Amino acid sequence: MTIDLAALPHDFLWGTATSAYQIEGAVAEDGRSPSIWDTFSHTPGKIAGDDHGDVACDHYHRWREDIELMRRLGTNAYRLSIAWPRVVPDGDGPMNPKGLAFYDELVDGLLAAGITPSVTLYHWDLPQTLQDRGGWPERATAEHFAAYASVVAERLGDRVTHWATLNEPLCSAWIGHLEGTMAPGLTDLTAAVRASYHLLLGHGLAAQAIRASAADAEVGIVTNLSTVHAASDRPEDLAAARRMDGHTNRWWLDPVHGRGFPADMRELYGVELPEQPGDLETIAAPLDWLGLNYYFPATVTDDPTGPVPHARAIRRPDVARTGMDWEVDASGMETLLLRLTEEYGARKLYVTENGSAYEDVVRPDGTVDDPERQDYLVQHLAACASAARKGAPLAGYFAWSLLDNFEWAYGYAKRFGLVHVDYGTQVRTIKGSGRRYAEIVRAHRSRARDAA
Ligand code: IFM
Repeated sequence: MTIDLAALPHDFLWGTATSAYQIEGAVAEDGRSPSIWDTFSHTPGKIAGDDHGDVACDHYHRWREDIELMRRLGTNAYRLSIAWPRVVPDGDGPMNPKGLAFYDELVDGLLAAGITPSVTLYHWDLPQTLQDRGGWPERATAEHFAAYASVVAERLGDRVTHWATLNEPLCSAWIGHLEGTMAPGLTDLTAAVRASYHLLLGHGLAAQAIRASAADAEVGIVTNLSTVHAASDRPEDLAAARRMDGHTNRWWLDPVHGRGFPADMRELYGVELPEQPGDLETIAAPLDWLGLNYYFPATVTDDPTGPVPHARAIRRPDVARTGMDWEVDASGMETLLLRLTEEYGARKLYVTENGSAYEDVVRPDGTVDDPERQDYLVQHLAACASAARKGAPLAGYFAWSLLDNFEWAYGYAKRFGLVHVDYGTQVRTIKGSGRRYAEIVRAHRSRARDAA
């Protein structure tokens, strides 16, 4: 399969992505307080193997080595997240100078290496102290989030221009408050809907705060979306697919694009939104860019007695799957990029995450070859280029992930990295997929140079 590299802009950002809790470790160092993920991962039975992020990839101490890996990959961008409990340990109290200094140095190190930092302010690690006061179902959490955003933007805004408020609010709200398999582990529809509302309100308030502190800021939000297919032409299945699309995609996209919360889903959830005058305008503040995290499509059937949205994903036989048991379908990424362009009028798009977990084997000579991940990568990059060719304003791609890391409820059992991590020794090894990515980046860069 070839990638139509000529379709991608010359200044395309070729990046990798990670998040704080998944790689940093050092959970009790330099004034960091516990987050909801520390609490959740230390609750027996919540995480495969009872793993936790206490050490993870020890990135807090090894970040220089990790920047060197990015240089070897030839990437020119890196998406990182800031740990709120490192920077404002009480959630809404004073700033922790040592916590902020860590990110300050990291940003300087990236820039010195010619790598553009793309900073996400919230990748699920709410300070536990705010959870103890009600967490995202409470409006005050959105306000505290904006205050924290302001602290970070004031410090880093002279050097960081790419800002994301939230990563995948769907996971925080639906998986964390409804399905219960992510922190804080609740199974309560009212709490989940209220959390979804306050997450988006927090996004809008934080966007204002970043713009007020950092004149050159380009602010976006990172959404995880899926294409949704009906399992059959039965009207019941078609309606189920529409509901799943509402739950997964429209609930998040519509409000940030000024369309309000979808009426059909409001009716389905039957939960009163904690709306106050002006909130919808705050949530809909124009985005400079929109981030798409794409992994897999969904095929659903009607499930009237199941949980909302009363649509159950079915397992299609005879389709390729990753080690997460997620279906491989790169065409879904192209479809979504075009949908965001045509239906939502996106001005600038980034693929902020895309990647695959497989069972990697370290060979006796210490190398890691991962042909399936390489295929996944190439197929999805080809889909990106095809969407760009058809008009999607795609400005960058961030592979998930730079490193193997703590994969939430799956612990360390699932490896998404372009770089293998031996968790016993912390030795990093660039996998075959990392080398392949580097070749693609090089090829695009030399084509762009020739064309200049
Ligand atoms: O590891 C996660 C990441 O934190 C958010 N997006 C999906 C990835 C793979 O599950």
